[in-house]
Amino acid sequence: MQAGTDIKIARLTSPEAMRAAARLMSSSDPWLRLGINYADCLKSIRTPYRELHGTLRSGELKGLVLITMYGTLRGYIQALCVSPGCRGEGVGKALLLYAEKRIFRESPNVFLCVSSFNSGAIRFYRRLGYKRAGLLKDFVISGSDEILMRKTRGPLRGPAPRGIKRKQ
Ligand SMILES: CC(C)(COP(=O)(O)OP(=O)(O)OC[C@H]1O[C@@H](n2cnc3c(N)ncnc32)[C@H](O)[C@@H]1OP(=O)(O)O)[C@@H](O)C(=O)NCCC(=O)NCCS
Repeated sequence: MQAGTDIKIARLTSPEAMRAAARLMSSSDPWLRLGINYADCLKSIRTPYRELHGTLRSGELKGLVLITMYGTLRGYIQALCVSPGCRGEGVGKALLLYAEKRIFRESPNVFLCVSSFNSGAIRFYRRLGYKRAGLLKDFVISGSDEILMRKTRGPLRGPAPRGIKRKQ
C-alpha cells in the first residue's frame, strides 16, 4: 500500500519481521527509558488482535506501527517507531496517516499514549491533530506519566435516543 510519495507500507506477519520490529523498538527511546526490553516488545507485537505494519528500505525495517483493533479503545496505536537514521524524512507521518486510514475504516477514534518525557513525539502528534484525552500518572515507571491522546471523527454511535438528554 502506498502512503506517502515513495513510502510503501504493508502489513507484516512473518516471524522475522516481528523480531526486526522488536529489535527496532527495544533499541530506541521511549522503550529503553521505560525499561521495556526485546522480549517485552516481541510479546506485545505477538498479542492477538494487534496488527504490525511497516516499511522496508533495502530489505531492512525502517519504520513500524502496531495497532490494536479490539476492546473499548479499539483503534489504539500501541507503538510507532522509525529507525533513527530515517527520522525527519516523513516516514513517521506516513505511518501514522496509514494507521489512521486503516482504523477509520472500522472506528471513529484513534487512540495512543505518549510518555510525558517524549516531548518531540508529543509535538509530532499535536501537529498531526491529536488532542490530550487523559493522563495516566506513573503508569509504566515512577516519575513518568502516559498522556492518552485521541483523534476523533465523532461518537461511537449516532444521536442519543429520544428522551435521553445530551451533555450540554
Ligand atoms: C516520533 C517519530 C515516530 C516521528 O517520525 P519521523 O519520521 O521522525 O517524523 P516525520 O519526518 O514524519 O515528521 C512529520 C512531521 O512531524 C514533525 N516532527 C517530527 N519529529 C518532531 C519532533 N521531535 N518535534 C517536533 N516536530 C516533529 C516534522 O517536522 C514533520 O512536520 P511537517 O509535516 O510539518 O513537515 C520518530 O521520531 C520516532 O520513531 N521516535 C522514537 C519513537 C517514538 O518516540 N515514538 C512515539 C511514541 S510511541
